[in-house]
Amino acid sequence: MPSYINWDASLELDLPQIDNDHRELVKMVNRLQVAMEAHAEKGILADIFSRLTEYATTHFKTEEQFMAKIAYSDLQAHIQLHRSFVVKIFQMTEDYLSDKETGNNLLEFLKFWWVAHIKSEDYKYLVEYRNKKLANKNMNDMLDW
Ligand SMILES: [Fe+2]
Repeated sequence: MPSYINWDASLELDLPQIDNDHRELVKMVNRLQVAMEAHAEKGILADIFSRLTEYATTHFKTEEQFMAKIAYSDLQAHIQLHRSFVVKIFQMTEDYLSDKETGNNLLEFLKFWWVAHIKSEDYKYLVEYRNKKLANKNMNDMLDW
């Protein structure tokens, strides 16, 4: 089995609500791994999957609202990445539960996707947000977001 995701400063965006979501999602992926390693029943795993996907979907909505609020220039492309993730994870989960996909592949995908997404894609809107804030003091109310 692959190693767990370690939360560290490189995953922090300094946006409390979004960071909290990300931290919880990382915990959920790690918990999924614990359950898989303990050879939990498929029904229990299916439960964890659906909670994870539900949490991710809610998180994506929060993030999309934030990006819309700051008029993020690449909003549509980012929304598309979220949608693709949901489609892919549904398919992989279904395949895993019907033994057409390994737990390792599923975990590797989840970990790779979240870490890469936060560090590259989420970081892009963070940079734009910071630049806009510097350029326009009227956007300071966004600080309270
Ligand atoms: Fe995102």
